[in-house]
Amino acid sequence: MAAQLAERVIGQPESLDAIIPYIQMYQAGLSPEGRPVGVFLLLGPTGTGKTRTVEALAEVLHGNAKNVLRIDCGEYQMEHEVAKLIGAPPGYLGHRETQPLLTQVKLNAVMSEQNNLSIVLFDEIEKAAGSLQRLLLGVLDKATLRLGDNSTVNFERSLIFLTSNLGAREMARELRPEFGLETAAVRPIDGGRSAVKRLETVAVAAVKRKFAPEFVNRIDLMLTYQSLDAAALEKILELQVQSLQEHLDRRLGERSFSLEVPKRSRQFLLRHGTSVEYGARELKRTMHRFVMQPLAALVAEGRVAPNSVVRFELHSGGERLEVLPGRRAA
Ligand SMILES: Nc1ncnc2c1ncn2[C@@H]1O[C@H](COP(=O)(O)OP(=O)(O)O)[C@@H](O)[C@H]1O
Ligand SMILES: [Mg+2]
Repeated sequence: MAAQLAERVIGQPESLDAIIPYIQMYQAGLSPEGRPVGVFLLLGPTGTGKTRTVEALAEVLHGNAKNVLRIDCGEYQMEHEVAKLIGAPPGYLGHRETQPLLTQVKLNAVMSEQNNLSIVLFDEIEKAAGSLQRLLLGVLDKATLRLGDNSTVNFERSLIFLTSNLGAREMARELRPEFGLETAAVRPIDGGRSAVKRLETVAVAAVKRKFAPEFVNRIDLMLTYQSLDAAALEKILELQVQSLQEHLDRRLGERSFSLEVPKRSRQFLLRHGTSVEYGARELKRTMHRFVMQPLAALVAEGRVAPNSVVRFELHSGGERLEVLPGRRAA
């Protein structure tokens, strides 16, 4: 499991290593009763793999990244919106119309034949209304949630992930070059330990300012994701090219073709896609702009032959990639 996760989430080994034992405890039948299997708060700069970790776990445990009960806390910023999660009490307006999101059925639906552990993600928890945070207290503590209709949901077979960008702005400041840290690409002499510790301190302080102590106490692990260095971004680019190829093969079937992105073009993408502030999200945007969009135009014009090789060459001006629809492969 560790190897499968590390193939998907690049450059965050400490976080993965910390999460895995909780899953093994469960698989061994040794998880404590009356609590979720694990409660993890993932912190750190944007685009460093927090949400990706949760998807990758779903892929590894269930064979599908979609086997996650995901609550985007940004959608529950107002107190009245929280009823969408647990349903209104009988007799209240909207009791019939509101299908609560956090039911036992929905929780069980993200299990799979191969694994009966549900992964629950409360994304960007700092945006949630206060009542959602209070509601979460019971879930984190006793693994139960009481719904509007008075039924209860059991979270004893759940891994609960909370993600937060709390402290992200302060962290970006820590990472800025004038602090002697040009992206983490240039690692300081101590292998980056001091930068890691500084990020952690900033993140944890922000969490303690925002959340009540009883909330913080119920979290098993607070994990601070590190900004990605050049080597990590290079691997992520490789993953993204690979996943684009898989996507094409799945979508186009017989009519699919092969992508070829030579080293110089990759370097161009990495140059454009490196950002301390947005992490790998900038790389994704760069891929979109210089690879996917031109490719889509070419395919839409019917200029790519099935089985051919499409090459992304660095344009002679060096400011964009040239897409060359190629010959049919032998
Ligand atoms: N450490 C990483 N390993 C692999 N891919 C990553 C990593 N970090 C970010 N990505 C890529 O960037 C995208 C955005 O990252 P995400 O995990 O959503 O960021 P956040 O940390 O803000 O939750 C992901 O879908 C993934 O494609
Ligand atoms: Mg995220």
